[in-house]
Amino acid sequence: MATILIVDDEITFAKNAAKYLARFGHTVATAATVGEGKTQAEAQKPEVLVLDYRLPDGTGLEFIEHIRASDPAVHIILITGHGTIELAVDAMKAGANDLLTKPVSLMELRERIESLMQQQRDASRLRYFEARERSASQSILGQSPAIRELQQRIERMASIDAEGMLPPILIGGETGTGKELVARACHYLSPRSAKPFIEINCAAMPPTLLETELFGHERGAFTDAKERKIGLLEAADGGTLFLDEVGDMDLALQAKLLKVIEDGRFRRIGSVQEHQVCVRIVAATNHDLEARVSEGAFRADLYFRLRVLQLLVPPLRDREGDAVFLARHFCQVLAQRYRREGMRLSPSAEAAIASHRWPGNVRELRNVIEQAVMLAAGDTIEARELMLSPAAAATPYGGPPSAQPTEAGSALDRRERELLIAAMAASNHNVSQAARNLGISRDTLRYRLEKHGLKE
Ligand SMILES: Nc1ncnc2c1ncn2[C@@H]1O[C@H](COP(=O)(O)OP(=O)(O)OP(=O)(O)O)[C@@H](O)[C@H]1O
Ligand SMILES: [Mg+2]
Repeated sequence: MATILIVDDEITFAKNAAKYLARFGHTVATAATVGEGKTQAEAQKPEVLVLDYRLPDGTGLEFIEHIRASDPAVHIILITGHGTIELAVDAMKAGANDLLTKPVSLMELRERIESLMQQQRDASRLRYFEARERSASQSILGQSPAIRELQQRIERMASIDAEGMLPPILIGGETGTGKELVARACHYLSPRSAKPFIEINCAAMPPTLLETELFGHERGAFTDAKERKIGLLEAADGGTLFLDEVGDMDLALQAKLLKVIEDGRFRRIGSVQEHQVCVRIVAATNHDLEARVSEGAFRADLYFRLRVLQLLVPPLRDREGDAVFLARHFCQVLAQRYRREGMRLSPSAEAAIASHRWPGNVRELRNVIEQAVMLAAGDTIEARELMLSPAAAATPYGGPPSAQPTEAGSALDRRERELLIAAMAASNHNVSQAARNLGISRDTLRYRLEKHGLKE
């Protein structure tokens, strides 16, 4: 069923059409002027706009240009008193989808509206299948039962559709397991894949900045707010907003997030007016959120709301056979990138990969293969050329990831450890700052801290 706005100064026609369409389950609003129509459109965000060409304060064409600028997806049916070819061409150029000449039969109007909606559904179904194919090539690789099950769960959760806000999805898992990849899959396998996928890292900026990024602000909301700014929530409308590292979100902001998840309503900073969005929130964290809740660092109500649909990305060590499978894949892809085609892994190297514990998971595996591909002496990567640290090799499951400084290349490792400690101290334990000072990404820094058993 469609949300429809009828803008026509013939009040009787508008009223009758509204009543008629409502009988078929559509939600209809009416307006009699361009000005009124703009306000209505802003508030109602219609899927279909039925527009009279001649209005008391302007023409339908001007209105089309105005609304197309903010909503490229709305279907526009223009109604004219005289169906000339020139007008039809102008209307289509301006962005109308369909043209009806007066007198308009209500039945025909309804048929046009419903056929436009059907076309849209067909198009989005088609995009869904295209996305499935596209994502097959760049997706979550693996053949283990654990990863197969994850893939199926992702497909099921992604295909859930509803009116308004979709239920959020929470992605958990250790660092480097592929949470970001999973978040993208949740979007690109969904019926809303043609809509935006927008991501933001909640740990990357101070809470006040994160708040303005998410909700946007009105002009003059604070000293630096020279212009009105649309937040990411609005930018992601109709699609997916990916909140990475949601466990690091500030408590006050968590409350606002919960409200948006519940009813899709929020206020831009400095505004009294509420806005309505329809987005799917996908949130990821490598924290144990339950522990964060009992520490009082994460709201219990938000946690319970988020975990209704939960995806746990298993650590690489629990994906039987996948480490070697992925290693071969990375070896092939990276050999091509570094012009070392034909590079392969020796049986001993594969055995070492199979028994390594991979505390940094797929990211660590990829890095290890990358340096080996670049540096290997011959065409075959030997086990020692992987430079895997024995301390991190298979230990009984559940132990902390390589809690002691590793022994292989120990002078280098010691130096690295000292550098990390110094950088963290200098930045007052601010990971982003320390990463900038060291000239590496936050992910790399966090991975290295973990590798040395250093807590942030
Ligand atoms: N199953 C997989 N198949 C192919 N590549 C993968 C897979 N899992 C992860 N990767 C790759 O490993 C790297 C790390 O993945 P990603 O950034 O998604 O991890 P993450 O779980 O978000 O880590 P963090 O918690 O540190 O942010 C990326 O380069 C990603 O493309
Ligand atoms: Mg990540």
